[in-house]
Amino acid sequence: MKEIEKEKALTFIEPGPVVLVTSYDGRKNNIMTISWTMAIDFAGHIVITTGPWNHSFETIMRSRECVVCIPNASMIETTVKIGMTSGTNTDKFKTFGLTALPAKYVQAPLIAECLACMECKVVDYVEKYGFIVLHVERVVENEALQDRRMFHAVGDGTFIMDGDKEEYRQLMAAKLPPGL
Ligand SMILES: Cc1cc2nc3c(=O)[nH]c(=O)nc-3n(C[C@H](O)[C@H](O)[C@H](O)COP(=O)(O)O)c2cc1C
Repeated sequence: MKEIEKEKALTFIEPGPVVLVTSYDGRKNNIMTISWTMAIDFAGHIVITTGPWNHSFETIMRSRECVVCIPNASMIETTVKIGMTSGTNTDKFKTFGLTALPAKYVQAPLIAECLACMECKVVDYVEKYGFIVLHVERVVENEALQDRRMFHAVGDGTFIMDGDKEEYRQLMAAKLPPGL
């Protein structure tokens, strides 16, 4: 084993799916890209990590809601560009040719082009680490999309596309809750 830079630790830990988070400030829809996400329990809580340097942060904290959407592999370039653009003066839905659909429980929109969208309410915030704890109120899936691959940020500007899927449900049966 060869010692490498400590900064590279996250490149081994990070690869969850990159997500698009929508918000609505009462005037305009916005989207941001987030790669720092985490599922934390079987009760519908997830965490997104962000902070006041993003326009979306203030909107999410004020409205106490957002939608977490999962782009497929064909959306990778758009997803990176969304994460390189501020929504302060830009309508990202228009600029990136995405379709906003109404959600049921929140004002923030779904993104029609994504694999799935989760309507979420903010239930907690850990300021020190920028953890916004969300409760998922509703999930919608776009079953018509052929390309089911998600993609994962390594953290250094490279991405991993989903590959083969293997099933170990039998082995994990005792730990899987009903409905999964
Ligand atoms: C691949 C990628 C991943 C990103 N992940 C995060 C993240 O996890 N947390 C965060 O605060 N910003 C992240 N960003 C940056 C925001 O998406 C970016 O600052 C965006 O412009 C915010 O938009 P807004 O100011 O309109 O809210 C990421 C950007 C890219 C390109």
